Amino acid sequence: GIDISKLRDQTGLITLDLGYKNTGATLSDITYLDGDKGELFYRGYPIEQIAEKSNFTEVMYLLLHGELPNQEQFLQFQKNINKYNYVAEEMKKILDAFPRSAHPMGVLSTLTSALTAFNPKAVNVKNKEDLDHAAEMLLAKFSHLCAWTYRKTLGLPLNHGDNNLNYVENFYKMTFRMPNQDFELDPVVVDALDKILILHADHEQNCSTSTVRMVGSAQTGLFASISAGVSALWGPLHGGANQAVIEMLEHIEQDSGDVAKYVAKAKDKNDSFRLMGFGHRVYKNFDPRARIIKKATYDVLNKLGIQDKALDIAMQLEKVALEDDYFVERQLYPNVDFYSGIIYRALGIPTEMFTVMFALGRLPGWISQWKEMRLHGDPIGRPRQVYQGAQQRDYVPMESR
Ligand code: ACO
Repeated sequence: GIDISKLRDQTGLITLDLGYKNTGATLSDITYLDGDKGELFYRGYPIEQIAEKSNFTEVMYLLLHGELPNQEQFLQFQKNINKYNYVAEEMKKILDAFPRSAHPMGVLSTLTSALTAFNPKAVNVKNKEDLDHAAEMLLAKFSHLCAWTYRKTLGLPLNHGDNNLNYVENFYKMTFRMPNQDFELDPVVVDALDKILILHADHEQNCSTSTVRMVGSAQTGLFASISAGVSALWGPLHGGANQAVIEMLEHIEQDSGDVAKYVAKAKDKNDSFRLMGFGHRVYKNFDPRARIIKKATYDVLNKLGIQDKALDIAMQLEKVALEDDYFVERQLYPNVDFYSGIIYRALGIPTEMFTVMFALGRLPGWISQWKEMRLHGDPIGRPRQVYQGAQQRDYVPMESR
């Protein structure tokens, strides 16, 4: 018979699945999505209901703890987060060392990693309570770091957190309060931000979340794992798409709004150009988040009385692409980030900050997945490969090469 214990270390049959298109990396209880039907659920609740009726703080709790909180649990959760509504003063020196031109995602990733050095005890997690404690600490501090990246780009002084506000309001105030000016929260803006953050809160094993789980599977601490997730999200094929969409729409606008030309360019296999905000690895029917955010985009622009040429271009692009065989055959539909940039722009958030906003939204998802991985005791992530390099050969001294 076969000795199973010996098999563990032998090379067996390896499935090659480039981009992990069909490989499950874990068992998870957090998010379910059906790409063919265009459905998304957080802990069993349909995203449509969550986006309409819930709020971001509640969603953070739901993702982390598996259930919607009752009032007492909700207030306690808010209180726990508020306990950490500050960042060590010394961290500002790291921020100061960056050039103002630094991309906010690079700054955010560095600062998130640096949290370990300033909060070493929080990294030493032994049980569920320690995990929850580290999670609450990170939720509070990360929103500061996001606000800091914005203030840095504009050379503005930093704001303190305000425990009288909810999570999104607090972030908004820290980000946008100008020195020596009265500050008022605009409910339209806060509501829109809340909704976008909810829509981005988790999306099962996407690139950045898989990164967070992979890094954490080596028992690396929470803050360092999340810092790696921020770096993964930065890329234009992932979270960076929201910035790339607006840049593309602006580009088309400056190029006399010739939408058809860009659709043709995207179809041309000799051209690497892609329609940013189109296509999704899993959604091959439509992205349910895109439907919700499209409506929110119109609501926000109407409420704020803004007419944005980028939105007109986006709608033309959507119409032309959706009627084109190339996009239909490949099941390429607008994804959530096709619209999020237009809302961010209407809210006065600069383009380079768009992906930071995505990171703030995705944070509870990352943390919940990391927590789940640790509590399930998942093994260290270590994919195999199919080697296709040189056969064995002898070393050649440099003078003989
Ligand atoms: N524009 C033009 N063609 C596209 C696009 C696009 N946006 N997306 C995919 N295609 C084409 C590919 O060229 C390929 O064509 P082929 O079969 O003739 O070679 C086919 O559609 C399948 O594309 P893949 O790259 O294999 O699809 P994959 O699932 O690997 O990629 C991805 C998904 C990365 C999202 C891709 O659609 C893309 O690059 N989109 C633009 C970037 C973007 O919007 N990213 C945001 C993702 S959502 C998020 O992170 C929240």
